[in-house]
Amino acid sequence: MLKNGYLFCMNSTALITGASKRIGKSLAEHLAAGGWNVIIHFNSSEKPAGELLSLLKKQYPEQKFESIKANLVNSVEVENLIRIVLNDFGNFNLLINNASVFKSGYIFETGSELWDSQLSVNLKAPFILMRDFKNYVGRGNIINFVDTRITTNKSDFAAYSVSKKALWELTKMAALEFAPDIRVNAIAPGVTLAPEDKDENYLNKLAEQIPMRKPGGMEPILKSLDFILDNDHLTGQLLFADGGENLGKNK
Ligand SMILES: NC(=O)c1ccc[n+]([C@@H]2O[C@H](COP(=O)([O-])OP(=O)(O)OC[C@H]3O[C@@H](n4cnc5c(N)ncnc54)[C@H](OP(=O)(O)O)[C@@H]3O)[C@@H](O)[C@H]2O)c1
Repeated sequence: MLKNGYLFCMNSTALITGASKRIGKSLAEHLAAGGWNVIIHFNSSEKPAGELLSLLKKQYPEQKFESIKANLVNSVEVENLIRIVLNDFGNFNLLINNASVFKSGYIFETGSELWDSQLSVNLKAPFILMRDFKNYVGRGNIINFVDTRITTNKSDFAAYSVSKKALWELTKMAALEFAPDIRVNAIAPGVTLAPEDKDENYLNKLAEQIPMRKPGGMEPILKSLDFILDNDHLTGQLLFADGGENLGKNK
């Protein structure tokens, strides 16, 4: 149901990984505005997670909000995450695999440590969380955040790109295996937010090269999220929220 422009879902609960800041935070705020209860996963950002939690509790006193810490590099913490959420907070019906690490490195310079950190957070953790969502939750939606980079063979972020390419393949496999009880889809942002150590100029410069010639911001991502949630026949799909970047660059 649409209410004030939001997809309104009373009594639904989402677990969003990496939700204390940036895109994850916007997803949490958007779902909360649509009536969702939200479990905010974080790792190092305890303070921002706490601030978001307080804000959402204040803004939406009728809804439930919780936060949970887990380091997604640590297999034990990942393996325990869904069971802890179910034990401590109760059932939920939407898993958003948003948490990610984005480190540069061509293939020739990528060491085991860089490879392991990218693959464990960006691929292995979503794999385990999707598996456990299937086994312990059993119904609902999974949305994986990939990247428009999966359409290219550029290797400047080699391990990151491999992790996101594989996450998209996993999305399709899980969509087939988990249907009809669980729908599994993906969103591929393009130029959205500058990395934390870069400014808006960096982002605008990148955006000059994409067909729509400006950064997309959060709106296309949030609209993609609503589109997925509102289409109960949609599974195994990838929505590019990237201003056409998947088609190629202008220069
Ligand atoms: N930003 C963009 O323009 C863009 C473009 C294309 C695709 N994407 C994709 O969209 C998603 C969100 O992007 P973003 O830029 O908002 O992400 P981000 O800021 O780079 O990372 C999101 C969160 O991931 C969490 N994370 C990192 N390592 C972790 C670990 N070891 N254990 C647990 N959590 C960990 C962090 O949580 P803590 O802070 O709590 O440690 C961080 O806040 C990502 O999947 C990204 O690949 C983004």
